[in-house]
Amino acid sequence: PTRILTGITTSGTPHLGNYAGAIRPALVSAQSADVENFYFLADYHALVKCGDPARVQRSTLEIAATWLACGLDPAKVWFYRQSDIPEIPELMWFLTCVAGKGLLNRAHAYKAAVDKNRAEGEDDDAGITGGLYMYPVLMAADILIFNADKVPVGRDQIQHIEMARDFGQRFNHLYGEHFVLPEVVIEESVATLPGLDGRKMSKSYDNTIPLFAPPAELKKLIMGIVTDSRMPGEAKDTSDSALFQLYQAFSTPEETAAMREAFAQGIGWGDAKQQLFEQIDRQVAPMREKYEALIAKPDAIEAILRDGAARLRARYATPALAELRRAVGLRDLS
Ligand code: TYM
Repeated sequence: PTRILTGITTSGTPHLGNYAGAIRPALVSAQSADVENFYFLADYHALVKCGDPARVQRSTLEIAATWLACGLDPAKVWFYRQSDIPEIPELMWFLTCVAGKGLLNRAHAYKAAVDKNRAEGEDDDAGITGGLYMYPVLMAADILIFNADKVPVGRDQIQHIEMARDFGQRFNHLYGEHFVLPEVVIEESVATLPGLDGRKMSKSYDNTIPLFAPPAELKKLIMGIVTDSRMPGEAKDTSDSALFQLYQAFSTPEETAAMREAFAQGIGWGDAKQQLFEQIDRQVAPMREKYEALIAKPDAIEAILRDGAARLRARYATPALAELRRAVGLRDLS
């Protein structure tokens, strides 16, 4: 079977971008025949920007409950917490030893941090941790350890998958064919969901719409989406409208075409926002109810995560590291 793997960093409350960009396509994939799915909570990655233990724990619980509320069946897919698999950071070290420093220098997140320092007249690496720098290597370990064939992600993650291929290839070259080189999968229609301010919806921009915000809050947030100053009756432009893109991500092609027509006919922004709210709320409401029930039972969620990781370690992670340790010339621990 084809192996499909993806993760979400546990550094905040899951938002519409995570849902449309990662969770929804993952659950469609979980329905197809002849695939083996790996979906996990990237809590080691959360340490890179967080420094807030309570937040990591809360976010882990929220993201786990979200996956389950959206219909993930832990009996059918591998569902686990990254930090329950100690073989992942061990593999990260092996990959660190083949990762080109020049390639890591070119990672977008690291480069953005350097550029910001330069703009502010600071030293290039001021305040930048080894964690930020090594982030792509940890991510490569997540993917390569299970020999994932396909990694569905948003556009922001493409470079990370390319790096995973690079590290995997270098390792294979030195030690023999141990890793499958993963392919990135992008769902074009929702590649980057915009947030309230029109930029990419992201925890770091503070422009997110939480997936399970209560209806009143959801409505309030949607009413706050940036629009231009065109009045009702004036034709509206769909091409760089965050509102339209959000509508499209939660609509059928027919519904989207109807909204496109409404824009051309000069629908008022208030009306368009009301329609967007109804469209999202209708789809989210049944999952929100399940989410509320799940989040009230953290022990049950914890048990599911531990069970998933224990089975996954026994089946794949531990044997994989035994093989890799032998391959690089280390003692076999088994
Ligand atoms: P993270 O937690 O930032 O995002 C999780 C997933 O959601 C997607 N996403 C979006 N998609 C569309 N529009 C948006 N506005 C939007 N915001 C987020 C992301 O592209 C991603 O698919 N480094 C990863 C987590 C990770 C991972 C991995 C992913 C760790 N190891 C291995 C795949 C394979 C991250 O921080 O994603």
